[in-house]
Amino acid sequence: MRIDKLLANLGFGSRKEVKQLLKSGAVKVDDAVIKDAKAHVDPATQHVTLNGEHVEYKEFIYLMMNKPPGVLSATEDSRDKTVIDLLELNDQVYSPFPVGRLDKDTEGLLLITNDGQLSHRLLSPKKHVPKTYFAVIEGEVTEEDVEAFQEGVTLDDGYFTKPGQLTILKSGLMSDIELTITEGKFHQVKRMFEAVGKRVVYLKRLSMGPLALDESLELGEYRELTEEEIEMLKSDGSK
Ligand code: URA
Repeated sequence: MRIDKLLANLGFGSRKEVKQLLKSGAVKVDDAVIKDAKAHVDPATQHVTLNGEHVEYKEFIYLMMNKPPGVLSATEDSRDKTVIDLLELNDQVYSPFPVGRLDKDTEGLLLITNDGQLSHRLLSPKKHVPKTYFAVIEGEVTEEDVEAFQEGVTLDDGYFTKPGQLTILKSGLMSDIELTITEGKFHQVKRMFEAVGKRVVYLKRLSMGPLALDESLELGEYRELTEEEIEMLKSDGSK
Protein backbone atom coordinates (compact mmCIF):
# COMPACT_ATOMS: atom_id res chain seq x y z
CA MET A 1 0.00 0.00 0.00
CA ARG A 2 1.12 3.59 -0.50
CA ILE A 3 3.21 4.94 2.36
CA ASP A 4 1.14 8.15 2.62
CA LYS A 5 -2.07 6.12 2.84
CA LEU A 6 -0.64 3.83 5.50
CA LEU A 7 0.48 6.72 7.70
CA ALA A 8 -2.75 8.65 7.20
CA ASN A 9 -4.82 5.53 8.03
CA LEU A 10 -2.87 5.18 11.23
CA GLY A 11 -3.80 8.70 12.24
CA PHE A 12 -0.48 10.44 11.68
CA GLY A 13 -2.24 13.27 9.86
CA SER A 14 -4.08 14.04 6.66
CA ARG A 15 -2.58 12.86 3.36
CA LYS A 16 -1.20 16.43 2.96
CA GLU A 17 0.34 16.49 6.44
CA VAL A 18 1.82 13.04 5.93
CA LYS A 19 3.37 14.25 2.67
CA GLN A 20 5.15 16.97 4.65
CA LEU A 21 6.36 14.40 7.18
CA LEU A 22 7.77 12.32 4.36
CA LYS A 23 9.43 15.35 2.77
CA SER A 24 11.13 16.18 6.06
CA GLY A 25 12.86 12.77 6.01
CA ALA A 26 11.13 11.54 9.18
CA VAL A 27 10.04 8.24 7.64
CA LYS A 28 12.24 5.25 6.98
CA VAL A 29 11.38 1.93 5.40
CA ASP A 30 13.90 -0.80 6.17
CA ASP A 31 16.38 1.90 7.24
CA ALA A 32 16.13 3.88 4.00
CA VAL A 33 14.59 7.36 4.14
CA ILE A 34 11.49 7.50 1.98
CA LYS A 35 10.39 10.92 0.77
CA ASP A 36 8.07 9.91 -2.03
CA ALA A 37 4.44 9.80 -0.88
CA LYS A 38 3.61 7.43 -3.74
CA ALA A 39 6.19 4.82 -2.68
CA HIS A 40 4.67 1.42 -1.95
CA VAL A 41 5.34 -0.42 1.27
CA ASP A 42 4.31 -3.82 2.62
CA PRO A 43 3.73 -3.26 6.35
CA ALA A 44 3.63 -7.02 6.94
CA THR A 45 7.21 -7.59 5.80
CA GLN A 46 8.87 -4.16 5.89
CA HIS A 47 9.97 -2.17 8.91
CA VAL A 48 8.53 1.34 8.91
CA THR A 49 9.72 3.99 11.37
CA LEU A 50 8.62 7.55 12.00
CA ASN A 51 11.22 9.66 13.79
CA GLY A 52 12.92 6.42 14.73
CA GLU A 53 9.77 4.89 16.30
CA HIS A 54 8.45 1.64 14.88
CA VAL A 55 5.11 2.10 13.13
CA GLU A 56 2.94 -0.90 13.79
CA TYR A 57 0.30 -1.67 11.22
CA LYS A 58 -2.47 -4.22 11.42
CA GLU A 59 -5.40 -4.42 9.11
CA PHE A 60 -7.79 -5.57 11.79
CA ILE A 61 -8.08 -4.94 15.48
CA TYR A 62 -10.10 -7.13 17.88
CA LEU A 63 -10.79 -5.84 21.38
CA MET A 64 -12.74 -7.25 24.29
CA MET A 65 -14.18 -4.66 26.67
CA ASN A 66 -15.89 -5.07 29.99
CA LYS A 67 -18.45 -2.40 29.20
CA PRO A 68 -19.26 -0.14 32.13
CA PRO A 69 -22.78 1.18 32.76
CA GLY A 70 -23.55 4.72 31.61
CA VAL A 71 -21.65 4.42 28.33
CA LEU A 72 -23.22 3.94 24.90
CA SER A 73 -22.40 1.04 22.55
CA ALA A 74 -21.92 3.40 19.63
CA THR A 75 -19.04 5.02 17.79
CA GLU A 76 -20.06 8.59 18.52
CA ASP A 77 -22.73 10.53 20.31
CA SER A 78 -23.26 14.24 20.86
CA ARG A 79 -24.29 13.85 24.52
CA ASP A 80 -23.06 10.62 26.00
CA LYS A 81 -19.69 8.96 26.25
CA THR A 82 -19.32 5.98 23.92
CA VAL A 83 -17.29 2.80 24.26
CA ILE A 84 -15.00 4.14 21.51
CA ASP A 85 -14.25 7.20 23.66
CA LEU A 86 -12.84 4.77 26.24
CA LEU A 87 -10.24 3.43 23.81
CA GLU A 88 -6.69 4.70 23.61
CA LEU A 89 -6.00 6.85 20.57
CA ASN A 90 -3.65 4.29 19.06
CA ASP A 91 -6.60 1.85 19.02
CA GLN A 92 -9.11 4.45 17.83
CA VAL A 93 -7.05 5.06 14.68
CA TYR A 94 -8.23 1.69 13.34
CA SER A 95 -11.81 3.01 13.30
CA PRO A 96 -13.26 0.15 15.34
CA PHE A 97 -16.94 -0.19 16.20
CA PRO A 98 -18.88 -2.28 18.72
CA VAL A 99 -20.31 -5.59 17.46
CA GLY A 100 -23.98 -5.21 18.31
CA ARG A 101 -25.35 -3.17 21.14
CA LEU A 102 -25.62 -3.43 24.87
CA ASP A 103 -28.03 -1.04 26.57
CA LYS A 104 -26.53 2.01 28.25
CA ASP A 105 -27.05 0.44 31.69
CA THR A 106 -25.83 -3.05 30.68
CA GLU A 107 -22.33 -4.20 31.60
CA GLY A 108 -20.04 -6.91 30.40
CA LEU A 109 -18.64 -8.44 27.27
CA LEU A 110 -18.48 -6.20 24.24
CA LEU A 111 -16.45 -7.06 21.18
CA ILE A 112 -15.02 -4.03 19.39
CA THR A 113 -13.42 -4.48 15.97
CA ASN A 114 -13.01 -3.01 12.51
CA ASP A 115 -13.57 -6.42 10.89
CA GLY A 116 -16.92 -5.85 9.20
CA GLN A 117 -17.18 -9.40 7.88
CA LEU A 118 -16.76 -10.97 11.29
CA SER A 119 -19.19 -8.51 12.84
CA HIS A 120 -21.74 -9.26 10.15
CA ARG A 121 -21.46 -13.01 10.69
CA LEU A 122 -21.73 -12.75 14.46
CA LEU A 123 -24.82 -10.55 14.22
CA SER A 124 -26.56 -12.38 11.39
CA PRO A 125 -29.92 -13.72 12.61
CA LYS A 126 -29.25 -16.83 10.49
CA LYS A 127 -26.21 -17.81 12.56
CA HIS A 128 -28.04 -18.04 15.92
CA VAL A 129 -24.91 -17.07 17.84
CA PRO A 130 -25.66 -17.74 21.54
CA LYS A 131 -25.24 -14.89 24.01
CA THR A 132 -25.27 -15.55 27.74
CA TYR A 133 -26.25 -12.97 30.32
CA PHE A 134 -26.19 -12.79 34.09
CA ALA A 135 -29.08 -10.81 35.52
CA VAL A 136 -30.63 -9.81 38.81
CA ILE A 137 -34.42 -9.93 38.63
CA GLU A 138 -36.90 -8.18 40.87
CA GLY A 139 -39.31 -10.93 41.89
CA GLU A 140 -39.08 -14.66 42.29
CA VAL A 141 -37.99 -16.47 39.14
CA THR A 142 -39.64 -19.86 38.99
CA GLU A 143 -39.53 -23.16 37.12
CA GLU A 144 -42.58 -21.92 35.17
CA ASP A 145 -40.43 -19.08 33.87
CA VAL A 146 -37.75 -21.59 32.87
CA GLU A 147 -40.37 -23.57 30.94
CA ALA A 148 -41.91 -20.45 29.40
CA PHE A 149 -38.49 -19.28 28.15
CA GLN A 150 -37.81 -22.76 26.79
CA GLU A 151 -40.95 -22.50 24.67
CA GLY A 152 -40.40 -18.86 23.74
CA VAL A 153 -42.33 -15.86 25.04
CA THR A 154 -44.35 -13.09 23.39
CA LEU A 155 -42.76 -9.66 23.64
CA ASP A 156 -44.69 -6.39 23.96
CA ASP A 157 -44.68 -5.90 20.17
CA GLY A 158 -46.16 -9.36 19.54
CA TYR A 159 -42.86 -10.99 18.54
CA PHE A 160 -42.56 -14.60 19.69
CA THR A 161 -38.98 -15.28 20.73
CA LYS A 162 -36.82 -18.28 19.98
CA PRO A 163 -36.24 -20.55 22.99
CA GLY A 164 -34.06 -19.13 25.74
CA GLN A 165 -32.19 -21.26 28.23
CA LEU A 166 -32.86 -19.91 31.71
CA THR A 167 -30.92 -21.08 34.75
CA ILE A 168 -31.96 -19.96 38.22
CA LEU A 169 -28.90 -19.31 40.37
CA LYS A 170 -30.78 -17.89 43.35
CA SER A 171 -34.50 -17.40 43.77
CA GLY A 172 -36.16 -15.00 46.18
CA LEU A 173 -37.51 -11.45 46.32
CA MET A 174 -34.50 -10.73 44.16
CA SER A 175 -33.36 -13.57 41.91
CA ASP A 176 -30.04 -14.23 40.20
CA ILE A 177 -30.23 -15.93 36.82
CA GLU A 178 -28.30 -16.79 33.70
CA LEU A 179 -30.04 -16.64 30.35
CA THR A 180 -28.75 -17.78 26.97
CA ILE A 181 -30.50 -16.46 23.88
CA THR A 182 -29.68 -16.82 20.20
CA GLU A 183 -31.27 -13.60 19.00
CA GLY A 184 -30.55 -9.94 19.56
CA LYS A 185 -33.84 -8.07 19.56
CA PHE A 186 -33.87 -4.60 21.09
CA HIS A 187 -33.82 -4.89 24.92
CA GLN A 188 -34.48 -8.60 24.47
CA VAL A 189 -33.58 -9.89 27.93
CA LYS A 190 -35.48 -7.10 29.69
CA ARG A 191 -38.51 -7.62 27.48
CA MET A 192 -38.47 -11.39 27.94
CA PHE A 193 -38.70 -10.90 31.69
CA GLU A 194 -41.41 -8.26 31.24
CA ALA A 195 -43.32 -10.92 29.29
CA VAL A 196 -43.45 -13.02 32.48
CA GLY A 197 -44.21 -10.02 34.70
CA LYS A 198 -40.71 -9.44 36.09
CA ARG A 199 -38.13 -6.69 35.93
CA VAL A 200 -34.41 -6.86 35.20
CA VAL A 201 -32.56 -4.63 37.66
CA TYR A 202 -29.00 -5.57 36.66
CA LEU A 203 -27.72 -7.04 33.41
CA LYS A 204 -24.27 -8.21 32.39
CA ARG A 205 -23.22 -10.11 29.26
CA LEU A 206 -20.94 -13.04 29.99
CA SER A 207 -20.33 -14.51 26.56
CA MET A 208 -20.96 -14.26 22.85
CA GLY A 209 -20.48 -17.43 20.83
CA PRO A 210 -17.18 -18.96 21.98
CA LEU A 211 -15.91 -15.68 23.44
CA ALA A 212 -16.21 -15.35 27.23
CA LEU A 213 -15.71 -12.18 29.24
CA ASP A 214 -12.26 -12.02 30.79
CA GLU A 215 -13.30 -11.44 34.41
CA SER A 216 -9.92 -9.89 35.20
CA LEU A 217 -10.99 -6.82 33.20
CA GLU A 218 -12.36 -4.10 35.44
CA LEU A 219 -15.42 -2.19 34.19
CA GLY A 220 -14.26 0.06 31.33
CA GLU A 221 -11.06 -1.90 30.77
CA TYR A 222 -10.32 -3.74 27.56
CA ARG A 223 -7.69 -5.90 25.95
CA GLU A 224 -6.84 -7.30 22.55
CA LEU A 225 -8.20 -10.76 21.80
CA THR A 226 -5.63 -13.53 21.74
CA GLU A 227 -4.88 -15.24 18.41
CA GLU A 228 -6.74 -18.26 19.77
CA GLU A 229 -9.86 -16.21 20.61
CA ILE A 230 -9.82 -14.62 17.15
CA GLU A 231 -9.53 -18.03 15.49
CA MET A 232 -12.35 -19.45 17.62
CA LEU A 233 -14.61 -16.54 16.76
CA LYS A 234 -13.85 -16.74 13.07
CA SER A 235 -14.43 -20.46 12.77
CA ASP A 236 -17.55 -20.34 14.95
CA GLY A 237 -18.94 -17.29 13.19
CA SER A 238 -18.57 -18.92 9.78
CA LYS A 239 -20.71 -21.95 10.60
N1 URA B 1 -30.94 -7.57 26.37
C1 URA B 1 -31.26 -6.40 26.96
O1 URA B 1 -32.37 -6.21 27.40
N2 URA B 1 -30.31 -5.46 27.06
C2 URA B 1 -29.05 -5.63 26.63
O2 URA B 1 -28.22 -4.73 26.77
C3 URA B 1 -28.73 -6.86 26.02
C4 URA B 1 -29.69 -7.81 25.89
